[in-house]
Amino acid sequence: MLPSADELGGVLTGLANRGFPRAVTPALSHRDAQPFLTAGFTVHEHLHLLGFDLRPSRQNAEPFAAPLPDRFTMRHGRRWHERSVIDVDFRAFEPFWRFDQTALREARRATPRHWYRVIVDAEGVQAYAVTGLAGRRGYLQRLAVSPDAEGQGLGRTLIDDALRWLRRRSATRILVNTQERNRRALALYEGVGFEPEPSGLVVLEWTR
Ligand SMILES: CC(C)(COP(=O)(O)OP(=O)(O)OC[C@H]1O[C@@H](n2cnc3c(N)ncnc32)[C@H](O)[C@@H]1OP(=O)(O)O)[C@@H](O)C(=O)NCCC(=O)NCCS
Repeated sequence: MLPSADELGGVLTGLANRGFPRAVTPALSHRDAQPFLTAGFTVHEHLHLLGFDLRPSRQNAEPFAAPLPDRFTMRHGRRWHERSVIDVDFRAFEPFWRFDQTALREARRATPRHWYRVIVDAEGVQAYAVTGLAGRRGYLQRLAVSPDAEGQGLGRTLIDDALRWLRRRSATRILVNTQERNRRALALYEGVGFEPEPSGLVVLEWTR
């Protein structure tokens, strides 16, 4: 259920009284953003929402990832990877979007099932992805490649791996969102076959 603008106003007053200078929302549809805007939030960023039909068809035949260069291996993400995963995330994203430990754990818990994968080399984690599954719907929750390892197919390999995991669990569709100005990520998703959903998303912020 969406909060009303009045309820949000109360929450913001509470935050201001406790000394919080700023609040941000998760990605919201334009409709769900309305009460937040009325309560005083403004748009921080517009996001593309992209979807990909996982049901087998000629257009989306099982993707084929070129083999990773030999020095990389893909593994399940484990607790001991957490620090290096957060470090990769820190280097891959600009400050507003960076994950800390809590955000990483929340992304993993956001759906009833998830798939957490890392790509490592001798130096440690170079890329990771978190994919969620709720009902028949998959969500690419997070994807980040270390700037030192970009352009070598790690991002594509992690997406293909996520699509395989979802298909094995009979998911029918996967969604991902990304900043409208993130041309690199858009090129990657569109290369896989993702297509824009009719309406994008917004992230809102409130400052005291
Ligand atoms: C976007 C990102 C995941 C790409 O990872 P990557 O490992 O470099 O991607 P790949 O090497 O698998 O490249 C796959 C495709 O991505 C696109 N791509 C990759 N690097 C690119 C670049 N430097 N410029 C433009 N497009 C690029 C291309 O379409 C490429 O296809 P090609 O190999 O046929 O040219 C990575 O740059 C990253 O982590 N960026 C910061 C975080 C982010 O944006 N995450 C995803 C959005 S939420």
